[in-house]
Amino acid sequence: MHITLVSYYKAKGTILIISVRFESKYMGSGKSEIIDITHGGVSGKVAIFIQKNNPSFYEKNILPSISLVQDFIIKPLVKKEIEKKLDEENYPIFEVIEIETINRCNGDCAFCPVNKKVDSRPFKLMERELFISIINQLSNLNFSGKLNLYSNNEPLLDERIIEFAEIARLNLPDGHIHLFTNGTLLTVEMFQKLIPNLDFLLIDNYHDNDTLNDPVQDIFDFIKEKQEFHKKVKIRLIRKNAIRTTRGGQAPNKSKISNLTSPCISPFNTFIVRPDGKISLCTRDALGTYTLGDLTKQSIVEIWNGKEFWTIRNKILQGRNKLNLCKDCDAFAYVPHNILSLFHVLRDK
Ligand SMILES: C[S@@+](CC[C@H](N)C(=O)[O-])C[C@H]1O[C@@H](n2cnc3c(N)ncnc32)[C@H](O)[C@@H]1O
Ligand code: SF4
Repeated sequence: MHITLVSYYKAKGTILIISVRFESKYMGSGKSEIIDITHGGVSGKVAIFIQKNNPSFYEKNILPSISLVQDFIIKPLVKKEIEKKLDEENYPIFEVIEIETINRCNGDCAFCPVNKKVDSRPFKLMERELFISIINQLSNLNFSGKLNLYSNNEPLLDERIIEFAEIARLNLPDGHIHLFTNGTLLTVEMFQKLIPNLDFLLIDNYHDNDTLNDPVQDIFDFIKEKQEFHKKVKIRLIRKNAIRTTRGGQAPNKSKISNLTSPCISPFNTFIVRPDGKISLCTRDALGTYTLGDLTKQSIVEIWNGKEFWTIRNKILQGRNKLNLCKDCDAFAYVPHNILSLFHVLRDK
């Protein structure tokens, strides 16, 4: 392993950012475009070292400090973004919709509230008619945002997911269809059927030693020389025992209160559908603690503009501590657009 200078960004003759990374066995000749080593930078390597050697110090001191700095930077930006939406004559429809067609996962990630060892939800598979009705409503809205065909689940456990992606693609030509999977059930044959109907596929490879699991290795071998997949497909290496965000205080290996003060943008731009048609507060409301509507009784637009959603939005504007789940949540659900474009500049260099 060695350090390589990856990229720098220049503005008015000044170098703003220098990014370095540790080379790993998956990087080099085109492969690095598919594989994203989470915490791949120098600070990431240090963080992993501390996480592995002193997890409780990492959880109690390092992570809360990082969150507080992010909170300070993001607060004015997120407020401005929310105000912009509130100023519109008609409140705009969500930018992201997540559809959970099955509420189960086969994974055992230590940081996830729905890992198969701790998931307390009664089993539910979405009725086909409900899925079609959601897609039809989105089609009538000319939906051009992001449709996630997963939420707090492993979407490939639902055998209909390939067909569902096809239905979504046909009816939402302007929508951006995304799928996140742990890749354990993905075969090359399924990949070939799924990928034409997706705009983005993220394969989260959960392993504690930066090793690709066998099915993911097969996909990697299949796509590594096929440039056409490299922007559409990413494989992300995540440690199964990593300490990540609190998921509204529900992450099994991290439940610290972070006392963040920035409002969360999620209820202002995101719509999360559970398999029974009920609407959750946000993607971190993994177990469906909150219900903001029911698609078996109401339309998407009725729920989005309804009393429950506005009550939540008004509360979150007063502060995260006004809602039980939010007071323990350290997610920002917001990446400033200018920072995002900077990442794209760096990535595309
Ligand atoms: C709940 S998973 C469902 C999709 C699929 N099973 C997967 O793992 O990619 C959706 C995303 O949430 C992320 N996630 C789960 N628990 C998390 C936590 N505590 N903090 C941050 N991200 C988390 C996962 O890594 C994944 O990218
Ligand atoms: S992160 Fe994904 S794979 Fe891991 S337990 Fe959660 S839903 Fe399953």
